[in-house]
Amino acid sequence: VPRVFSGMQPTGNLHLGNYLGAMLNWIHMQDTHECIYCVVDMHAITVWQDPKELRRAIVDVTAAYLACGLDPKKSIIFNQSQVAEHAELAWILGCTGRIGWLNRMTQFKEKAGKDKEAASVGLYTYPVLMAADILGYHATHVPVGEDQKQHLELARDIANKFNIDYKDAIEASGFADGVFFVPPEPYITGPATRVMSLRDGTKKMSKSDPSDLSRLNLTDDADTIARKIRKAKTDTEPLPTEKDGLKGRPEADNLTGIYAALSGESLEKVLGQYGGGQFSVFKNALADLAVARLGPVGEETKRLQADRGYVESVLKDGSERARAIAAPIMRKAREIVGFIVS
Ligand code: TYM
Repeated sequence: VPRVFSGMQPTGNLHLGNYLGAMLNWIHMQDTHECIYCVVDMHAITVWQDPKELRRAIVDVTAAYLACGLDPKKSIIFNQSQVAEHAELAWILGCTGRIGWLNRMTQFKEKAGKDKEAASVGLYTYPVLMAADILGYHATHVPVGEDQKQHLELARDIANKFNIDYKDAIEASGFADGVFFVPPEPYITGPATRVMSLRDGTKKMSKSDPSDLSRLNLTDDADTIARKIRKAKTDTEPLPTEKDGLKGRPEADNLTGIYAALSGESLEKVLGQYGGGQFSVFKNALADLAVARLGPVGEETKRLQADRGYVESVLKDGSERARAIAAPIMRKAREIVGFIVS
């Protein structure tokens, strides 16, 4: 069975990048795959979080998952820390992965900033925990945005090295082909795998950008969405009619990609319709489309965020179902590395 695992950090509101880069694929995959969607609270504390804020953010992000269309009847929805196997497997995989591999992670370099010695150990080993999230369920497909690609390559490297390091034990455990951890396939696809800031087409849209005008939050109201799009940075040329004309025009590239992703139309079709015309005409159409698509999601998110009891019950149920899959895999992993399992 193809099995999907993916997650988002509960640090602040979800934004358009999360939605177009990952969530749209998560929603579609529910109908064709067995899906496990996690709120990665343990990843969140790699940078200090106020406990009260974190508790609220876990519920808020779960509410957003549900409002976007994740269905707890189809998919397993849970928060990472309620399934202790993630942390346990991360220890073993941390003994498989190499320091040199972690030293190449560009996200650590960005997040740690200048003073690397002052970053938390957790921020450094973050990708190992992410590998444990995925491998601990024998997940085969991981839908994410472009920025997670390097972390997924690390997860594949760890899976392959574990399979080689423990080849004999793995075969003795009943995995005749010697594959205990299947290297997961990244699933990075769609017209908006890397959504850029509305204020600067060369910077990624992110929760940590100090300017709220740089992103569309899934809880923004209609007026705010329209205002942010009207204020979005553009250049002075009319939109091109062909894809090639987007080269060297990051803002035009970003906004037309967002339109294509939100409308479900191809980029060619979008450029066919708006190419040659003024940016202002296109921006009005984009604002209408974004309000129509995101407005209802935002309303439903706020409604669910107020119903904390329900959201927490979804997480409890999801955690039990997640544990039922992870526990037997963890038991095998302990056996394979030579621990005594009584
Ligand atoms: P996080 O919380 O930063 O982002 C959640 C998802 O949103 C995608 N994303 C974007 N996609 C396109 N354009 C953007 N500007 C943009 N910003 C964010 C991310 O690629 C991601 O898919 N390490 C992960 C969480 C994680 C995880 C996992 C993912 C932990 N364990 C296991 C998959 C499998 C992260 O910090 O995502």
